[in-house]
Amino acid sequence: MQIITEPAEMQVIAEKLRLNRQLIGVIMTMGALHEGHLSLVKLARESAGTVILTIFVNPIQFGPDEDLHRYPRPFEQDVALARSAGVDYLFAPEASSIYPDHFQTTLQCGKLGEHFEGKQRPGHFNGVATIVSKLFNITKPHRAIFGEKDAQQLAIIRQLVTDLNMDITIVPAPIVREENGLAVSSRNIYLSSDERHKAGIIYQVLCHAEKRMAGDEKNLQSIAQEVEEMISSTPGCRCDYVIFVDEKSFELAEKAEQGREYRLLIAAFCGNVRLIDNVKIRA
Ligand code: PAJ
Repeated sequence: MQIITEPAEMQVIAEKLRLNRQLIGVIMTMGALHEGHLSLVKLARESAGTVILTIFVNPIQFGPDEDLHRYPRPFEQDVALARSAGVDYLFAPEASSIYPDHFQTTLQCGKLGEHFEGKQRPGHFNGVATIVSKLFNITKPHRAIFGEKDAQQLAIIRQLVTDLNMDITIVPAPIVREENGLAVSSRNIYLSSDERHKAGIIYQVLCHAEKRMAGDEKNLQSIAQEVEEMISSTPGCRCDYVIFVDEKSFELAEKAEQGREYRLLIAAFCGNVRLIDNVKIRA
């Protein structure tokens, strides 16, 4: 595995790979690699000839109250994990080479970036869209793998690729979970062992919602209300939002139509840790 830190060097390598007809798959991360990230590498390994993993803690997607400087950066451990997962190139630039002095062009996601996670974190998705576009230009992938764990981010990146005519296939990767169903996340380390146990309720309510829809319940608002009550009645847990969206448009959905796909999005606090999770459900 080769470690690259300079954008221009990565571009030269990517261009050569393309000239040699190599299919490039990219996985973008902020490091602190875990099982979720590694499942994306596995998917890329299966479908692309060359796998590029990027590690970059993107300052412009952090809000002023979010602690960018406290974000974990276990670089040596990440290098070892990436190597054993079969990554070919690890691109890990310095912030100064991605955002040099006089950098000024950023992307606007539009309304898809304003709701749900975007409401909680104003400007966050504009920062994500900007770095993802830059990393596409630097790594020149044919396909890019993004986790369904961050469903709104995935929807925004699909929209970005469509709107800006980028010739890149976006591959969604299923959510990797811990034994009790809790979605694997770098934030889980902030949970006490009791909170971690209780956080399993989020997966239980996702399964409950799936069952209610399989049982032909069409009123999505009443399912969302049941879900909210189940979470709130778990000591130490409370909901930020519980929302059904249409899987294609990512717009709020209230009544389910037979055969259509929806996504139930949950943001909830267990103790002081804010967790997000979701499930796709066909009516
Ligand atoms: P990060 O949070 O490091 O996540 C990198 C990728 O891993 C994302 O596509 C995310 O959805 C996926 N992922 C995280 N946990 C997962 C899990 N439990 N199962 C499956 N996939 C999981 O998302 C970002 O970084 C950044 O916003 C980024 C896209 C890199 C732009 O800076």
